Amino acid sequence: MKQAFTLMQHLHLHLLLCPISFALVACQSTQPNIIFILADDLGFNDVGFRGSAQIPTPNIDALAYSGLILNRYYVNPICTPSRSALMTGKYPIHTGMQHTVLYAAEPRGLPLDLKILPQYLNELGYTSHIAGKWHLGHWKRVYTPLYRGFSSHHGYWGLDMRNGTEIAYDLHGQYTTDVITQHSLQVIANHKPAKGPLFLYVAHAAVHSGNPYNPLPASDDAVRRLDKIQHYKRRKYAALVTAMDESVGKIVEQLRKSRMLENSIIVFSTDNGGPAEGFNSNFASNYPLRGVKNTLWEGGVRGAALLWSPQLTKRPRTAEQLMHMVDWLPTLVEAAGGKVALSKLEAAKLDGVSLWQALVRNEASPRNSILHNIDDIWGSAALSVGVWKLVQGSHYNGSWDGWYGPAGLRNPHDYNWQLVTKCAAGQAMQQLKMLPQQADIIRLRKAATVSCKEAKVKPSPDIACNPLKEICLFNVLDDPCEQRNLAKQHPKVLALLLNELQLFNATAIPPANKPDDPRGDPRLWNHTWTNFGDYSEGKYYK
Ligand SMILES: *[C@@H]1O[C@H](CO)[C@@H](O)[C@H](O)[C@H]1NC(C)=O
Ligand SMILES: *[C@@H]1O[C@H](CO)[C@@H](O)[C@H](O)[C@H]1NC(C)=O
Ligand SMILES: *[C@@H]1O[C@H](CO)[C@@H](O)[C@H](O)[C@H]1NC(C)=O
Ligand SMILES: *[C@@H]1O[C@H](CO)[C@@H](O)[C@H](O)[C@H]1NC(C)=O
Repeated sequence: MKQAFTLMQHLHLHLLLCPISFALVACQSTQPNIIFILADDLGFNDVGFRGSAQIPTPNIDALAYSGLILNRYYVNPICTPSRSALMTGKYPIHTGMQHTVLYAAEPRGLPLDLKILPQYLNELGYTSHIAGKWHLGHWKRVYTPLYRGFSSHHGYWGLDMRNGTEIAYDLHGQYTTDVITQHSLQVIANHKPAKGPLFLYVAHAAVHSGNPYNPLPASDDAVRRLDKIQHYKRRKYAALVTAMDESVGKIVEQLRKSRMLENSIIVFSTDNGGPAEGFNSNFASNYPLRGVKNTLWEGGVRGAALLWSPQLTKRPRTAEQLMHMVDWLPTLVEAAGGKVALSKLEAAKLDGVSLWQALVRNEASPRNSILHNIDDIWGSAALSVGVWKLVQGSHYNGSWDGWYGPAGLRNPHDYNWQLVTKCAAGQAMQQLKMLPQQADIIRLRKAATVSCKEAKVKPSPDIACNPLKEICLFNVLDDPCEQRNLAKQHPKVLALLLNELQLFNATAIPPANKPDDPRGDPRLWNHTWTNFGDYSEGKYYK
């Protein structure tokens, strides 16, 4: 009852305020469906719209060219922190999720007092579903998606497939990208727009590496079609990417069939930078950006992403607005409910800010700084203010601080334009008259291509950076590849950023990591990872 009342109150207020607000789009149309597609471990340089011609991603590219390529968009460097930022609108230092991932036997989860994205959207009349990876805690059921605002879930909390809260033994042996796609398509097909808008969170397992006995599981067909890629493991990785791209096409196609596409917002984003050259047994590429997944270099935190919606008035374009993962929550809440809904977030003390108006109308970003992370256990921190970025400490004893290929830029003609128009998403974009002409696509793709002169070449010693020995400072607009450490040249800027870092640090709460709980041992639970905290020891299956 309370929720219904809040919703009525909200709609009433919203309608009332509509004529005097300039949020025309929100007035004339019903609330948009929101489809948030999150790739796992996708590299910055692994999508066609970013300039690499190596892996064909025509469906993702078609959306990018018809909407906004988010060009100054940042994520957290690793899975759990990044997903916690997306769900809460808060930096991981403010939720205790700042240190590494949540391990399957840890008795912890994203704190229950935090209201999360689907819960906010449900209050605005949405129905929320999740397909795929959760990774924000499952040791007790109350931490899992069905208890946190989602109406259905096919996917996994930790490692085993679930259908809702049940272990989905019947899904064993199926290809995860297919399982996630099937559920997504079903949710869209079954959605009744008359009952309100849909929020669908599609959290792929792709293109994360799998079990060590087969780290890059891809169909032989998909691998064969990519035989131009010489490096075999890179070719297999590419096959994971193309399977995910096809899934994006199918989702767009289903939205079109269900007549929901015109009234949808689609986000496609990676959760963190790509694991390259064997990192995590995987072969992503962030080239020419520095570093990999789980490092605070641009390769770890500058994410490949796009935003698509017919509501965006200044499109297509590369969006230069500075944006971070934490901004999605307020941005999408504003898109869903207007300024009134947004004002209700104030009490939640978010780190995120809404970029909805800035992105719709191509205005300046309300954000000027980004805390990439502070991890006092690993002794690392990074912060951006404007064009400047500070990097302190490193991970893996500095052994992933370099630049890793492949570039995939050999020949621009390798890029298959026709695929973009022929693929499912491209066809849908053409029907909506949103896919630009080839000349505009070329221009967009060029604007989204990062090139640095000396990437992979060792910088001269005076500007080299060893963050294990000293704090480094980069101008990431001039030097997106972090090759020139300007700490000595710009001591005042460095001092300013250090001061800002201290202000953030003063607000951090301790990391919530816990040692593995022996009660979580899968041998006690029919060889599954489960919500062991809900049962007394071994009582359930043993
Ligand atoms: C999931 O469970 C529901 C019943 O709760 C069932 O109808 C459905 O077929 C199951 N889906 C899969 C993919 O197993
Ligand atoms: C870290 O790297 C340095 C320099 O490369 C090396 O001398 C040192 O032994 C390494 N430390 C560890 C713990 O691996
Ligand atoms: C943050 O503060 C803690 C405790 O006050 C301190 O130990 C730590 O070194 C600080 N971290 C950074 C990056 O300044
Ligand atoms: C234990 O796992 C097997 C599959 O490995 C499954 O067929 C069986 O139903 C499970 N037992 C229980 C009690 O859930």
